[in-house]
Amino acid sequence: MSEILLQIDGKEVKAREGMTILEAAQSVGIFIPTLCHHEKLEPFGACRICTVEVETRGRTNLVAACLYPVEQNLVVRTRSEKVDKTRKMLLELLLAHAPDAGVLQDLAQEYGADKDRFEKEASFCIHCGLCVRYCAEVKKKNAVGFVDRGTRREISFIPEIASKECWNCKECFPLCPTEALQAAYVLTEALTSSSPSFEPEPEE
Ligand code: SF4
Ligand code: FES
Repeated sequence: MSEILLQIDGKEVKAREGMTILEAAQSVGIFIPTLCHHEKLEPFGACRICTVEVETRGRTNLVAACLYPVEQNLVVRTRSEKVDKTRKMLLELLLAHAPDAGVLQDLAQEYGADKDRFEKEASFCIHCGLCVRYCAEVKKKNAVGFVDRGTRREISFIPEIASKECWNCKECFPLCPTEALQAAYVLTEALTSSSPSFEPEPEE
């Protein structure tokens, strides 16, 4: 695979063809915030918090670092007025869903985002899809999925699968940036509590 030279925040970076800007930045210790990215999962491009500014052939654009492939001589800025403004706005929208999420609060402080800018939404899920994709792509179980569309979109455990698979897995729990996942699990557990298979099988 051919080597690509690009510049990130003024630093010359060597990358391999096919890498994303995020991977190239991470390889030299440059931090770009992410909310829907996971190295074991296919890129999803949902949260856009990884937005960076790229300059190529004299043109400047905002792109998602977790999706955009490296190019020869690309100039990348991970912080700029436009980048910071975009991240601030995105955070304010996400904070309307999950105002108490620690990871969002930390980012809000960094970018000066106001958690009360937009009217609060009832759902605490920020639709990063980490739980759904991890369960499907890594665990191959599909025990949790999205239901409904648009602003009413929510995650939900599939009781028949969750009752068999989740109790001794729960690997998706630490991935969730909010409490939505645990809440959905507790709800599913309560609804299926009459099902003995939701609990570990007693040892012989
Ligand atoms: S429940 Fe959590 S991990 Fe799952 S999509 Fe929502 S915010 Fe992401
Ligand atoms: S981390 Fe890139 S869009 Fe979410």
